Amino acid sequence: EIFEHSLEASKKIASRIAQLIIAKKEVGQMAVLGLATGSSPIEVYNELVRMHREEALSFQNVITFNLDEYFPMAPDREQSYHRFMNEYLFDHVDILPENIHIPDGTLTSVESVNKYCQAYEEKIDEVGGIDLQILGIGRTGHIGFNEPGSTLESITRLVTLDNKTRVDATKDFFGKHNVPKNAVTMGISTILKSKQVVLMAWGEGKAEIVERAINGHMSAQVPATFLQNHMNVTYYFDMPAASEL
Ligand code: GLP
Repeated sequence: EIFEHSLEASKKIASRIAQLIIAKKEVGQMAVLGLATGSSPIEVYNELVRMHREEALSFQNVITFNLDEYFPMAPDREQSYHRFMNEYLFDHVDILPENIHIPDGTLTSVESVNKYCQAYEEKIDEVGGIDLQILGIGRTGHIGFNEPGSTLESITRLVTLDNKTRVDATKDFFGKHNVPKNAVTMGISTILKSKQVVLMAWGEGKAEIVERAINGHMSAQVPATFLQNHMNVTYYFDMPAASEL
């Protein structure tokens, strides 16, 4: 779906999320959302906060799993995805803290990280899987932090960030040398297990990778191409992002 402005598209995505939450509430179930960070979903979160305030949209029946977190990363640091989520969504809605899951960037041994990642996968399965996963896309073609080379079978794990991704993160970290070299991310298979997937991209800076993600053949070199396999994925673009399609 191509929109003139990202705001219009973001409102549509927020309204899909709200409808899911309400539909689940009506049947006494939890809505399980997979959430993303980065600049792309900010307007979606703004709209959800507005709906909470003005339309009494409740998040009490919502469970969330975030895609990723830098590693190492303390949750209270400015660049942490924990802080991002609190600032743009969680601090402003009535979600129960125990229903929020964001990968932990503070673990210190490889064994503890591996164990944690396995448990993250199990928690998603225990609540019946993700109903709706929202995604941005990085200029490397990453979804979450699944950089080129990530396989279809990959699960939640510790990864090494691509140089292009670290360059793109420079502005947030005031210098590339401050950007962590690693991250913990859900895998491609974790993402593909979601019942519905929404990928959004805005601006001409994304046009080239959007074209490769949609028209390119499926390959680990552009991990977002793996979404072409999913039965229920919607791509939301503004006109500049869609300009090379
Ligand atoms: C980060 C995140 C991704 C996100 C990407 C694009 O690398 N880990 O999940 O999709 O950035 O960011 P933006 O939305 O700011 O363009």
